[in-house]
Amino acid sequence: SNASATARAYPNIALVKYWGKRDERLMLPAAGSLSLTLDVFPTETTVTVDPGADRDRFELDGAPASEEQTGRVTRFLDLVRERAGTTARAVVRSTNAAPTGAGLASSASGFAALAVSAAAAYRLDADRLALSRLARRGSGSAARSIVPGVAVWHAGEDDGSSFAEPVDAPPLSMVIVTIDRAMKAVSSREAMRRTALTSPFHAAWISDTAQALEAMLVACRDGDFTRIGRITETNALRMHAVIQSADPPIQYLAPTSVAAFDEVRRLRAEGLEAYATADAGPNVVALARPADAEAVADALAHLGETTIAGPGPGAALVEPAGG
Ligand code: DP6
Repeated sequence: SNASATARAYPNIALVKYWGKRDERLMLPAAGSLSLTLDVFPTETTVTVDPGADRDRFELDGAPASEEQTGRVTRFLDLVRERAGTTARAVVRSTNAAPTGAGLASSASGFAALAVSAAAAYRLDADRLALSRLARRGSGSAARSIVPGVAVWHAGEDDGSSFAEPVDAPPLSMVIVTIDRAMKAVSSREAMRRTALTSPFHAAWISDTAQALEAMLVACRDGDFTRIGRITETNALRMHAVIQSADPPIQYLAPTSVAAFDEVRRLRAEGLEAYATADAGPNVVALARPADAEAVADALAHLGETTIAGPGPGAALVEPAGG
């Protein structure tokens, strides 16, 4: 039978955000970033090499994916095929436990799962570092979902030096507040491009993020939850500020998202220590100590469906279902 492999990967939420590329072909970021890989909403992907086929097929949640999504998968598989020395096409079947494009980092879990399953199906000899570099080519943030728990993605200066690796950190929980499940209006790729090209604040955002990452690594090493939280919330608000300052402007936060940031600030004033962040969409994620996660989730429940998450595993091969 044809070579086949299945992998599972989890989304990650950045505490120091990746927003801007220095090289779009190699997917090198303009600054490093740091995230928590979660234990909820996994993506499971099976790649089956099909030497007889004249094109790749991509099935997402049981239905054929769009031409655009299939094109992105094919371009990614081309990198794998080039390394494997083959032109054989593949069938890719992927299932998401979270809605695609809703700002829950499904492109991160998606390309991390694809990198691990495709590398195995095409028999590449790739360790975790090589898989992180490979996943990066599909979607930048996917480089971090190869790694369990807290991951730093070094900006690097070339393909070989831009990868994610684990970082020691104190126990962390996240409360995901799902405010809107709809697809985002502007993709992060397009919005990053527009921000870099048109925002007068872009250069300041990039240099500030590099500094925030250094401070975050120290805070993680010290196990300083308060410092980690403050850096997280400030960096998220600065990312949304630079995005809002693009021309034409982009607004990912909804009124309810802003209300969630306000509520988290109010909780802190009451002595319940949590910090808010949000990616390229309206959903808000609160960072909390594990002991406080349920109280934080209760306090945010009136704003949307809440999901409590902890540190999750890095992307890995699994036995195919029923196999
Ligand atoms: C806001 O990794 O989805 O979630 O590299 O173009 O595929 P591409 O973008 P993507 O962007 C993630 C943006 C973010 C911040 C983050 O996860 O660091």
